Amino acid sequence: MKKDLLKLLDLSTEEILEILDVADQLKDMKKKGIPHPFLAGKTLAMIFEKNSTRTRVSFEAGIYQLGGNAIFLSDKDSQIGRNEPVEDTARVLSRFCDGIMIRTYAQEEVETLAKYATIPVINGLTDFCHPCQVLADLQTIREHKGKLEGLKLCYIGDGNNMANSLIAGGLKTGMKVAIACPGTYQPDPVMMEFAAQYPGMFQCTPDILEAAKDADVLYTDVWASMGQEGEFNERKEIFKDYQINDTVMGVAAEKAMVLHCLPAHRGEEITAEVFDAHADEIFDEAENRLHAQKAVMYLLMKNQ
Ligand code: CP
Ligand code: NVA
Repeated sequence: MKKDLLKLLDLSTEEILEILDVADQLKDMKKKGIPHPFLAGKTLAMIFEKNSTRTRVSFEAGIYQLGGNAIFLSDKDSQIGRNEPVEDTARVLSRFCDGIMIRTYAQEEVETLAKYATIPVINGLTDFCHPCQVLADLQTIREHKGKLEGLKLCYIGDGNNMANSLIAGGLKTGMKVAIACPGTYQPDPVMMEFAAQYPGMFQCTPDILEAAKDADVLYTDVWASMGQEGEFNERKEIFKDYQINDTVMGVAAEKAMVLHCLPAHRGEEITAEVFDAHADEIFDEAENRLHAQKAVMYLLMKNQ
């Protein structure tokens, strides 16, 4: 395992599957009430420059269940918000803590933090990607479908951080990935280039029903991500057809799953009816943030 988890592009298929296997084991131990204080005495610094419910709570509860503790740092009440260089934050936190989780805007900030930190850095979402979310997604798909390889995953919506990470996680684990998005909102060019290495396994089209055809897993995310709130009215118009609804479900495979990273906007990217019909899958997915991230922390921080 590498020192950090900055993006799924950095991980081999074997490394992704190892995280998923450990996540399953930790989930099983938790369900059976078997204590697992593998990170006793270790401290995770959690930097949040954007809002969060799931990521904050799952990391904080997760490190606690592993015997360690977390320190929450927001840009508003730390020196990060007063422009202390990320290089210095990295070096200081490395003297106090055993791992850093960061949620911020620019992927470069996370990469720089990792370069200067001597302890593992975990990406808890940037504008470019959301690797922890997709590890939980893959764990959920594998639980429900019994496999990943050979399944078709269809993402409908903005070619954003979720789309970027689903492309990496899906293709690396042998899934076919179809992205339905407007032509000017495609995934990052780096991801389009990566996907081009998987001929016959990847599709990016504005045609929602073509992308959703025979899909085993349908996925969507908000039309305007954190930091894009000012574009909402414009995006609402552009993305109005990019919705998981009964018509889309009608062309997907029989017993297709529906996933959503949450928070969801019913009536926008997904109808309330489809959301409610698939709530068990969606909240299993949310729960798996805990187990997948415990696996990541365990694998990265155990030797600190
Ligand atoms: N899915 C996700 O990362 O949720 P939060 O923004 O609540 O952390
Ligand atoms: N694309 C969304 C994901 C939230 C988990 C955002 O970046 O706001």
